[in-house]
Amino acid sequence: MPLRDENGRDGGIRINPSILAADFVNMQAELARIAAADFVHVDVMDNHFVPNLTFGPQMVERIQATSPVPLDVHLMIADPDRWAPGYAELGAASVTFHLEAAPEPVALARRLREIGARAGVAVKPATPVEGLLDLLDDFDQILVMTVEPGFGGQSFMPETMPKLRRLADEARRRGSSVWLQVDGGIGESTIAQAAEAGADTFVAGSAVFGAEDPGSAIAGLRAAAARHHHAH
Ligand code: DX5
Ligand code: ZN
Repeated sequence: MPLRDENGRDGGIRINPSILAADFVNMQAELARIAAADFVHVDVMDNHFVPNLTFGPQMVERIQATSPVPLDVHLMIADPDRWAPGYAELGAASVTFHLEAAPEPVALARRLREIGARAGVAVKPATPVEGLLDLLDDFDQILVMTVEPGFGGQSFMPETMPKLRRLADEARRRGSSVWLQVDGGIGESTIAQAAEAGADTFVAGSAVFGAEDPGSAIAGLRAAAARHHHAH
């Protein structure tokens, strides 16, 4: 881990490519292309919480066994109380569930931490973050969705940035080390706004897997984010 500053924030930038934009039948080769990433972002969708379907624990377990980098699992599913712990048990480094789907988010985060995963909570673009401001220590990361969850390749929604600023201000005020993540429409032209608003962890699907050279796309995003991120 990088050194923490006096507020406990580590000042690090993380780039997490989303395999939603990868070739699903060549997953092993696709994972090898993003060895320079910090985490691989794994989008689990159940065709219920979101109108799209990807894969479940069996596939994620194979990704876990194959990936050169740790897994950042994003659960876009109903009933995370039932399913989220299983992803922590298979070895995912972080497991993020949606606030809108979780009746007891703090209790679920505690279970995930007990199993040994980082606990994350995600909010859709229309979901306010005020309720999370007193709970920053109960989570290891907070994901502010910058598109409606469900599909890759959508346009970044700048109107979500005030929520990120609110979380970043509160994290700074409280000396919290929570990671602030953005997901959706992140690329060379949008990452600066998100970094400026306080994000330190960036999910990018099409911007990485759509690039000729994913390694240099990751390096480019990392440099752009670092230029605009004010270490807290
Ligand atoms: C969308 C997913 C994202 C998606 C991002 O619901 O949560 O992780 O893969 O894709 P891009 O970067 O193409 O917007
Ligand atoms: Zn995602």
